Amino acid sequence: ELLEKGGYDYFMLKEIHEQPNTLRDCMRGRINADEGWIRLGGLEDYASKISKAKRFVMIGCGTSWHAGLIGEYLFEDLARIPVEVEYASEFRYRNPVISEKDVVIAISQSGETADTLAALEIAKEKGAFLYGVVNSVGSSIARTTHAGSYIHAGPEIGVASTKAFTGQVTLLTLMALYLAHHRGTISEQYYRKLITELTLIPEKIKKVLQQDDKIKYIAAEIKDRQNAIYLGRGYNFPVALEGALKLKEISYIHAEGYPAAEMKHGPIALIDENMPVIVIATNRSAYDKIVSNIQEVKARKGTVIAVVPEGDDTISRIADYTIEIPETEDPLSPLLSVILLQLLSYYTAVMRGCNVDQPRNLAKSVTVE
Ligand code: G6P
Repeated sequence: ELLEKGGYDYFMLKEIHEQPNTLRDCMRGRINADEGWIRLGGLEDYASKISKAKRFVMIGCGTSWHAGLIGEYLFEDLARIPVEVEYASEFRYRNPVISEKDVVIAISQSGETADTLAALEIAKEKGAFLYGVVNSVGSSIARTTHAGSYIHAGPEIGVASTKAFTGQVTLLTLMALYLAHHRGTISEQYYRKLITELTLIPEKIKKVLQQDDKIKYIAAEIKDRQNAIYLGRGYNFPVALEGALKLKEISYIHAEGYPAAEMKHGPIALIDENMPVIVIATNRSAYDKIVSNIQEVKARKGTVIAVVPEGDDTISRIADYTIEIPETEDPLSPLLSVILLQLLSYYTAVMRGCNVDQPRNLAKSVTVE
């Protein structure tokens, strides 16, 4: 087991550090920045059907559901197709309105999650086209769907999903870009720009991973707290949800993710000097609004930990701690900011003496209801 961990203390840390490579594997042969193309076997074979879909419904559980939320932002923003994202466990029991004009995308690391599989069966009965975004090759979900793309993240051992999440988001980004190009909803210039930026993400993740010491320092700040709030807007709202989930899963600190502007409708009541607030503030759009959200937290003496774009000097003047991520386009920033949040949860949990790879009460794959 020591060997398999490759010198890391936990599989989770190893898997976090694998992400530059797993994302390269996910993109290998599927994207070419110089020639400006994206090819996804599963999608190309059914491109005309899929790109004519009236609606996409993304289903998943846990972290995979969060990937679906980012997918919603990507597909609607770039490909201009309406998307709904739903927990598979809710979808399966609420008699959903689904027809042959819908494409249902099942997102799953294991490909064996019982709720996701059952939801797919229902969508199939109603005539939807089923697409799988799966890690485990040959898994039940991969076999149940009509088409799909593997994320090629390799085996994920840590119960808390890390590299599978970024693989899912990368794959959904490729799909959104492919569909946007096919449907003519994106300018050639922006399409090319995003393709180039996407291929640069693995190198940029390496830079994020070098911030270990700073993240440990911040983890020491939150390790004895009982609660934490994560805030983000736009593409970073699902990242806030994922950051909060990671923290509660492995460190047992209660954490909630919120869209930053929703803070004033509830969570702001919780903010005092004991509350760390992690703000993912990398959006170029809505930057000023995020700054005012941070001011609202500071006015109530909350501890602000902000994830900011490189070179930012506005937020660093008002936040208690800032961590930088390299510049990228807004739709791609979750792939960088989530890495910091994975590391923050990891170090916090280790400092609290938790068994990071096998958190209490959780299973890697939930194959029963
Ligand atoms: C469990 C795991 C999570 C995972 C979720 C969905 O709760 O602990 O890490 O996100 O199941 O699993 P799936 O294999 O369908 O992605």
